[in-house]
Amino acid sequence: VRVAVLISGRGSNMAALLYAAKAESCPYEIVLVAANDPDAAGLKLAAAEGIATFGHSHKGMKRAEFDRIIDAEIRKAGADYIALAGYMRLLSPEFVEGWAGRMLNIHPSLLPRYKGLHTHERAIEAGDSHGGCSVHIVTAELDDGPVLGQTPVAILPGDDADSLAARVLIAEHQLYSRTLADYVSRERDPEWIVGQVGELAA
Ligand code: GRF
Repeated sequence: VRVAVLISGRGSNMAALLYAAKAESCPYEIVLVAANDPDAAGLKLAAAEGIATFGHSHKGMKRAEFDRIIDAEIRKAGADYIALAGYMRLLSPEFVEGWAGRMLNIHPSLLPRYKGLHTHERAIEAGDSHGGCSVHIVTAELDDGPVLGQTPVAILPGDDADSLAARVLIAEHQLYSRTLADYVSRERDPEWIVGQVGELAA
């Protein structure tokens, strides 16, 4: 199964997916890493691992127009699935629709809590016992869509957003590759998945 990964920066989750894919038993391979910033550090890392990369700035472009360029690259690479990994761009409805049931995202909170930004700060401020991360199917709503897996991470006394983020990141790296591997190896009818996503969106 062929997977394209979209990133915007550091790309540590992309690296975790890539390293996990080196195991013989891994059911997916990374065929493309694309970024909306040609200087994204993760692109260099992927290129050094022999993965095809594509970096293109979204600046000055309409969202749908930019997404069509990315979509064309992903299809050219023959990808069956997309993994968003720290991709900090909202996606156009057409793009999301075109990959319904075949695009996953990782988010650094225990969804449905704390969609959007500053998740760790918000969890600490709320006095939560745990932060964590979630992998979900991407739908038109930001950080929405069916949750496929989660890892809770205990908040320690004295934690700040950075210290919590660093521990959650360790959990993210494990959760994402495991969840992606499980998801792509399920003998599921893609139409069924699209149906589920459609129902949830309705
Ligand atoms: C991760 O915490 C991810 O959950 C969030 O942005 C961060 C990206 O980090 N959406 P990286 O680029 O994968 O290192």
